[in-house]
Amino acid sequence: MELGLKGKNVVVTGGGNNIGRAIVLAFAAEGSNVAIAELNHSAGKRVVGEVEALGAGASAFVVDADVTDQAKTQQMISKTIDRLGSVDVLVNNVGWTIDRLFMEKSRDEHVKEVDVNLWGAINCLHATLPHMIERQQGAIVSISSDAGRMGEYREAVYSACKAGVIALSKSLARENGRYGIRFNMVCPGLVVPEQSEIAGTESMWAQGMGDLFTDEIVERVKRAYPLRRIATAQEIANAVVFLASDAASFITGQTLSVSGGYTMM
Ligand SMILES: NC(=O)c1ccc[n+]([C@@H]2O[C@H](COP(=O)([O-])OP(=O)(O)OC[C@H]3O[C@@H](n4cnc5c(N)ncnc54)[C@H](O)[C@@H]3O)[C@@H](O)[C@H]2O)c1
Repeated sequence: MELGLKGKNVVVTGGGNNIGRAIVLAFAAEGSNVAIAELNHSAGKRVVGEVEALGAGASAFVVDADVTDQAKTQQMISKTIDRLGSVDVLVNNVGWTIDRLFMEKSRDEHVKEVDVNLWGAINCLHATLPHMIERQQGAIVSISSDAGRMGEYREAVYSACKAGVIALSKSLARENGRYGIRFNMVCPGLVVPEQSEIAGTESMWAQGMGDLFTDEIVERVKRAYPLRRIATAQEIANAVVFLASDAASFITGQTLSVSGGYTMM
């Protein structure tokens, strides 16, 4: 199957860690040029090194980003266009949560969930769409979550935001299909990075999530998945790359769970 991603210019937000890192490496393996839009510059740099080690003409660079800030997000997209000439693919990957009951979370934590998960996606879409409309082409994949499809225990506001990302993308798919722009969503199953793999304090896994997902909890999660294991980051990245590719040219407004059958919708 020809994916048609060689030489394509791709922005991956939060590409410095875990799922985002795997997405960057998967596009690079297809010969795409990847802008790693990162709050943590050194985490992004680490992934650039891994891309360079792939050889085969793959290229990546870090573009400093804070997707919660509209002006900085506009600058991030402008800098990427200045450097690469265009943005063919946007992957909205940045996300954040901390697993706690709704009434146990502080207002600040709820605000951060909305800022990162929902405003982050809105800002990136708003900054990128004019460019894609002008070029009459583009593919956008936003990372949602099964939490956004069915609601999740201890993840109420995060679930609301991830549901918001799905509805936002479906609405934009209706508005912008006429310009040849596609919008799709991937809902990952649980992907717990190894402690040694976590780069930077901005990763949610460095901020308490890692402590909550003990071996015992992960075993419980595995039993809830029909395939009886948790995902690798690479398995999530494969779905993202497919949906962004020419092989998915007639797919838009769709939500794909890559979660071992946890949700079947
Ligand atoms: N890991 C999972 O189990 C899981 C499950 C379902 C959905 N998801 C979703 O997948 C996506 C990736 O999850 P992950 O586990 O790889 O996350 P992570 O926290 O490990 O990595 C996020 C990356 O984004 C960067 N970042 C954080 N805030 C940023 C900002 N404001 N601007 C730019 N960059 C920023 C961080 O530096 C980090 O490198 C998220 O949207 C998450 O909600 C993850």
